[in-house]
Formats: sequence, C-alpha cells, structure tokens
Amino acid sequence: MNLVVRPARLLVGTLRPPGDKSVSHRVLVLGALASGRTLAAGLSDCGDVRSTARCLRALGVSIRTSGGKTLVEPPARGLRRPRGPLDCGNSGTTLRLLAGLLAAEPFDAVLTGDASLRRRPMERVAAPLRRMGASVRLASGGRAPMRVRGGLLKGAVHRLEVASAQVKTALLLAGLRAQGRTRVVEPAPSRDHTERLLPLFGAAVRRRGLEVSVRGRALRGARLRVPGDFSCAAPFIAAAAMLPGSRLRAEGVGLNPTRLGFLRILRRMGARIRVVRRRAGTEPEGTLEVRGGNLRATTVLAREVPSAIDELLLLAVLAARARGVTRLRGARELRVKESDRIASAAALLRALGAEIRTFPDGFEVRGPQRLRGGRVDCRGDHRVAMAAAAAALCADGPTALCGSGCAAVSYPAFFRELRRLARR
Ligand code: S3P
Repeated sequence: MNLVVRPARLLVGTLRPPGDKSVSHRVLVLGALASGRTLAAGLSDCGDVRSTARCLRALGVSIRTSGGKTLVEPPARGLRRPRGPLDCGNSGTTLRLLAGLLAAEPFDAVLTGDASLRRRPMERVAAPLRRMGASVRLASGGRAPMRVRGGLLKGAVHRLEVASAQVKTALLLAGLRAQGRTRVVEPAPSRDHTERLLPLFGAAVRRRGLEVSVRGRALRGARLRVPGDFSCAAPFIAAAAMLPGSRLRAEGVGLNPTRLGFLRILRRMGARIRVVRRRAGTEPEGTLEVRGGNLRATTVLAREVPSAIDELLLLAVLAARARGVTRLRGARELRVKESDRIASAAALLRALGAEIRTFPDGFEVRGPQRLRGGRVDCRGDHRVAMAAAAAALCADGPTALCGSGCAAVSYPAFFRELRRLARR
C-alpha cells in the first residue's frame, strides 16, 4: 500500500491509542498457561497480537473477543502439539515468548515467521532455554525457524548480555514450569510488564535491582484491563510537539515508567507535555496533553535506550527539527529490530532531504533542517511507516510512503487517526 501524506499546519484533538501491544501478547500467553479463564478488556487487535493469538489457537487455546473483551481459555488437558509450523508473522515478541512457553511442553514445535523475523537473532533466547533443559534448534546463523522440544526444566541464573524484555519474559515463562528458582539479571532495566502481570495470575515474582526471579508455579486465570499503547501514541505526540500551535490529548495511555524514556527525552528537548488524570494500578495509565513549540537538541545516553527503544526512529525525526546536535549512542539493538533501524532512520531523513550521520550504535543529527518531502520506503517496518508519517506532517511538500500498510503490525487505525487529527 502506497500512501501520500501531505504537510499539516497543526495536530489538534483527542486520541485514544489501541491497547498496549506488549501487554496484550503477555495476557494471551499467560492466559494460555493458566488454569481457568482469563478475561481482558482493551486487548490490541494489531497484526502482531493476532500472530500470537493464531499460534496459541494452533496449540489448542480458545481466544474469543466480543464487545471489547477477550476471553482466553486454555485446553482442559494442556496445550496440544500443533499440526504444522507456528507462523509468528512479523512479531519477535510472539516468537520469543512462545519459545519460553514451549520449552516445558512435551512435544516438538517449529516457530517461524516472515522474512524480517527470520533475519533476527534468536540464539539469545535459545541458549538460555537449552541451559534449563529444553532442546532448541535454530537455522544457520542462529535464526528462525526454531524447533523447540520441551523437557523437564531446571531453574538457572541467566545474565543477559543485552537488555531484552522478550528474552527476560521467555525465561520467566520457562522458569514458571521449572524445578527451583530461575533468575534473570539484565544489564539495564527493560520493560517490566511481565513482572507486573504475573502476580495477577497467582505467581510470586521477586525483584532485586536488575534481577527478577520466579519459582515453578501453576498460574490461575485473571481479569484485567489493558492500558493504551504509549508507543502508538508516540508518533502523534512527536508530530504535535514539532508543529507549533498544536494541541493534542492522548487518553488512557499506559504510563509504565519502563516505557517512558521517550517522554523524558522529549521534555528535555523542550516539548510541553503534561500528564493529567494519572491512575495507579498494575499498569499505571493517564492522559497526556501535548502543545507544539520549538525544540532543542539533546544527547541520549546508553542507559536511556531500553526505555525508549521503540521510539528512537521518532527521535531521529525530532532531531532534524530541533536546534543543535542530537546524539544517540549505545543503541546497537536498533540494528536487529524489524528493520535495521539505524539504516532506516538514515534512509528516512535522507529521502526527505535531511542529513544524518550514523554509527554502528547510533546517529547524530544537526538541526533544524528543512524536511522537503519525497518518497520513503517503509522497509516492512511498522515503526518506520509511523515515523515517516510524523516527519511528512512537518515537511514542506507531500511524502509518498511506500509499503505503509505495515503500520497495521502495531496500529491498524494509524493513518485514519492521522487524517482525523491533522489540520492543513
Ligand atoms: C517488546 C520488547 C522490546 C521491544 C518490542 C516489544 C516486548 O524488545 O522493542 O517492540 O513486548 O517485550 P526487546 O526488549 O527484546 O529489545
């Protein structure tokens, strides 16, 4: 799908982002593992969460949505061996979480996905699962397809080389079915949705600094509400911040601190963002009010990267519009996301006529630069499509987004919402 996004004067109005994608995956997977029913309101309906639902159904789980509520019921006699490979589509979270789930199942299953997913590194989840006793085989280069044959698992201590919530979650899922305690130690805190959700499902989670651990434990079904996805609101927040005079409200947005690095960075750049109506809970949420204005450059530190990981393409766009030199380093992980997001950031800005310098682990952008508009290849990466759209609103001329349909991987209604909120 090719779409032309024209420049906007302002972004004005109220947005309610869809349910958080990360939380939605976890609710489905934990619900599949629990005994009894799980009922969740506001689950995301995006492509990635559909991938998780499709794979779980192939394992015998019943998942039904009506009236905004999703009911998850595991099969009475445990997960069943799937008839064919489990297709995780574009979703790294699906593949890595399911690897952890299958690590304790007494059958063989193959996890695979689209060309982008089959290029991403999987040894980081395979190796620790093997140490717990599962048999995990990968294709050459440590990529999917992944063949998992579960076993009797033993708890272990895992020290992760990179902060990854997907890997951490996979190991905790395996740990819930293992003998003894399973500890995961991260180099920096990644998103902690799993740790927050597990107690609702009856599991005790111990957290000490950068270590999180669980013991083997049967889960029970839970009832919960999924907050709105901050990462879906982020492209709108970024565009509103860049367009002076804009007034945007984003309601029901998840405000988990491990996800808000981008908010903190934006504020440092001078963006005016207020949090109103904050509500505490398993996952805190609230309303954000954004006003457009002039931005200044900032330096993003390596330790800020995990909490802003999905918003760093937007940072490149903001950097082009901000006064001074914006620097990002310590973000090598961006190279192995749905696309190489350092290369994608460079291609995006250059396609719109702006300059950027790249490094193996980050980029540097001097601003303010004019964005001319042009033709951007979305590279099959939903976050490229959404960042390019935010940039296009601030450009001088129209921008053609090639392959913009991939935005549906996390936000099916993204372009409809963009049309609704943009004032020309
Ligand atoms: C996710 C974790 C992040 C993030 C991804 C979703 C999750 O990946 O980039 O979009 O739901 O656990 P890593 O933490 O593995 O880097």
